[in-house]
Amino acid sequence: MPNEDTQGFDGRLLRRIVRYLAPYKWWVLIAFALTAGASFLGPLRPRLVQEAIDGYIVPGDLEGLQGIILLLVAALVGEGVFSLLQGYLTQWIGQHAIYDLRTAVFRHIQRQPLRFFDRTPVGRLITRTTSDVEALSDVLSAGLVVILGNLFRLAFILYFMFSLNWTLALVVLGVMPVMAYGVFLFRSKVRVQYRETRKQVARLNSFLQEHISGMHIVQAFNREREEMKRFSGINHEHRAAQIKTIFYFALFWPMVDIVASTALGLVIWFGGLQAMAGTLTIGVLIAFIQFSRQFFEPIRNLSDQYNTLQSAMAGAERIFGLLDQDQSLVEKATPARLDRAEGRIEFRNVWFAYGGAGDGEAEPDWILRDVSFSVEPGQQVAIVGATGAGKTTIINALLRFYDIQRGGIFVDGVDIRDLRLAELRRRIGLVLQDVFLFSGSIARNLTLDDPDISEADMRRAAELVGADAFIRKLPEGYEQDVRERGASLSHGQRQLLSFVRVLAYDPAFLVLDEATSSVDTETERLIEQALKKLMAGRTSLVVAHRLSTIRHSDRILVMHKGCIREQGAHQELLAMDGLYRRLYELQYAEQEGQQAA
Ligand SMILES: Nc1ncnc2c1ncn2[C@@H]1O[C@H](COP(=O)(O)OP(=O)(O)O)[C@@H](O)[C@H]1O
Ligand SMILES: [Mg+2]
Repeated sequence: MPNEDTQGFDGRLLRRIVRYLAPYKWWVLIAFALTAGASFLGPLRPRLVQEAIDGYIVPGDLEGLQGIILLLVAALVGEGVFSLLQGYLTQWIGQHAIYDLRTAVFRHIQRQPLRFFDRTPVGRLITRTTSDVEALSDVLSAGLVVILGNLFRLAFILYFMFSLNWTLALVVLGVMPVMAYGVFLFRSKVRVQYRETRKQVARLNSFLQEHISGMHIVQAFNREREEMKRFSGINHEHRAAQIKTIFYFALFWPMVDIVASTALGLVIWFGGLQAMAGTLTIGVLIAFIQFSRQFFEPIRNLSDQYNTLQSAMAGAERIFGLLDQDQSLVEKATPARLDRAEGRIEFRNVWFAYGGAGDGEAEPDWILRDVSFSVEPGQQVAIVGATGAGKTTIINALLRFYDIQRGGIFVDGVDIRDLRLAELRRRIGLVLQDVFLFSGSIARNLTLDDPDISEADMRRAAELVGADAFIRKLPEGYEQDVRERGASLSHGQRQLLSFVRVLAYDPAFLVLDEATSSVDTETERLIEQALKKLMAGRTSLVVAHRLSTIRHSDRILVMHKGCIREQGAHQELLAMDGLYRRLYELQYAEQEGQQAA
């Protein structure tokens, strides 16, 4: 991390944090005013006590004493009310600013292309939107106001002390070098410790993330004991870091107390001598006893605030690091429009590499090599090929999850880079092999909260696909909660749900990626019927593992290592006696084997 080993205070960073307070600047000003008020009323009290003793008690003026006691009560109540309002207001401002910041971070994450997610661990993004944002909350809420409040308070105390008796004021200040040294030591130790703790928390988080997600592997391979050992190690280091921090804090508080008590002792000693000599009134002495106690409070708070500021800075650095790294796809300022939805797809000499085109020296690792094909309106085109041939990559390029490096992809004759992303994706219905279900009801998963999809549309789509029957048999029907990623549904059922989702979306194009490859034969029949209805009247591009499902396609593209090797109808390809025929025979033999078994 840059900057963490330097003084840890970065004005530019702080200004950028403070910008999130801009929408609430009037409230911030009010909070400042309230703090200033409270900071004045606090130190005013010892001054009033001095006034009461010297001005009224010693001369025996009862009426005057009653007046000043009323003032004292007013000051006390005033300080309480101001502090209360200021405390609530600053937290209110902070929570609003945090909400804005978190929204900005999530909006940013959501805009990133898939390339970004290939390289960024999920855990890191979650930490950014949760604990890093949280670390800023102290600064955005209380932080700045409290720091200023403590500075005000110090200034007022110094003013009252010097105006009452400057020699005694100097006596109190006399212990400051010791205090300053203590604060300095404490700060540097705690800074190191805070950093260490943050590192351990991050380790703990990523370990947990990985091991909870991969729990079935841990259990299946009996790795519990070993993983427990590794976890204990990390947990242990985390505890050690925490305890060390606590140790420094435990040292710091008594240190402040000792210094403050020393100051008090000195005030009593020197003040007492002056009082005995008659150069100091009892009221001033009592006031100074109170001042010497009040004086160290803001100093202690400030060094505490400094630490909060530090961890906020570290959080801010990471959040802004994420926000500044924007890879979102560029959209044309004046995007082309697709008014007539004919339904034609064309790939023209497409070259693509996941790592980007490189810097021009080394040849990039091409995943698509000079791929050209077209799908005419209403046609069904299938893509087959071995695992890793680049089938999914073609789909990724068509939906612009990734931008291609050379060539062009055209939808109804328009280059997809000239279209708005939302417009492109609105036309394409995508069904993947792994159906992703969000937590929530079935209905919500089918419509994805799209206001354009009515409940009637959704039910019609479900009936057409043949999912309606099983959904209605669920205890709560469409309102059934699918729970975490749909673990309560079978794979075939989930696949049917994904078909309903797409049919309700009513896209012009249909793109399926191995959507039928991992269901049992009975469900497969259901799904095949659903597919037929789905594809009717739509241009479709189907990646299939089982050749039986695509033999009636208008055209079949056979991919091999990023190139289209063969293309044609099923019979033509068989007659070619090439790659397709080999794939077909391989699967045919497999099926025979299964039937024999
Ligand atoms: N996100 C990615 N980043 C880098 N390489 C990838 C990524 N996705 C796929 N690949 C690589 O691209 C090649 C083609 O993958 P893919 O299109 O998924 O194949 P298929 O769908 O035909 O099995 C594979 O070698 C794979 O390792
Ligand atoms: Mg694939």
